[in-house]
Amino acid sequence: MRQECGGSPLGLVTNRLALREFVEADRTAVLAYQRDERYLRYYPWDGRSPADARAFVGMFLEWQREQPRRRFQLAITLKANGALIGNCGLRRKPGKDWEADIGYELNPEHWGCGYATEAAQALVNFGFRKMGLDRISSWCIADNTASTRVLERLGFRQEGRLRRNEYFKGRWWDTLLYGLLREEWKAT
Ligand SMILES: CC(C)(COP(=O)(O)OP(=O)(O)OC[C@H]1O[C@@H](n2cnc3c(N)ncnc32)[C@H](O)[C@@H]1OP(=O)(O)O)[C@@H](O)C(=O)NCCC(=O)NCCS
Repeated sequence: MRQECGGSPLGLVTNRLALREFVEADRTAVLAYQRDERYLRYYPWDGRSPADARAFVGMFLEWQREQPRRRFQLAITLKANGALIGNCGLRRKPGKDWEADIGYELNPEHWGCGYATEAAQALVNFGFRKMGLDRISSWCIADNTASTRVLERLGFRQEGRLRRNEYFKGRWWDTLLYGLLREEWKAT
């Protein structure tokens, strides 16, 4: 059954993480890691300013006010100390109630610990159990192995490769499209 999930703020808890709604003050922690060269590698941005971080977090605050709610982007925090280490979200496609796009990013200081996989798995479960989705999709820069590994670990299948689909930082980039269907999720 399809649900709208409007109203109360969303919170998800995993073994090591608490995923919560963004608040304005989070922009400081977001800016700190988005300025990191390692983070910027597969994005068109050369750097990030305080105004960029304000707009970035502001977009997620705006999504919280949607009625009914179609987009969720949650702050990923460590249960151990409450520190914000990234974010992860599910955004329904315009005019498509059954499909949402998943996206995630982490502070490079916390890469390689399985946090992205843990957070994204919680979002995927939420998407199929509570949002009533039938399909979750994602796309990423083909060279971004860490990101493709997260999707593959969650059972996503690669559905296509768009050659020279992006141009930034003086070169072309292929992008990969991934999808996970409800029945494939159930089988895991
Ligand atoms: C993509 C990202 C969120 C992965 O975060 P993470 O917490 O390191 O991921 P995990 O620890 O859950 O690891 C997932 C897999 O990626 C691999 N991985 C992690 N960092 C890697 C790196 N720098 N290079 C290659 N593989 C890497 C892990 O070994 C693991 O693979 P395995 O299952 O074969 O062991 C993180 O690299 C990131 O924030 N990148 C910048 C933002 C971004 O690119 N977001 C995605 C946009 S599509």
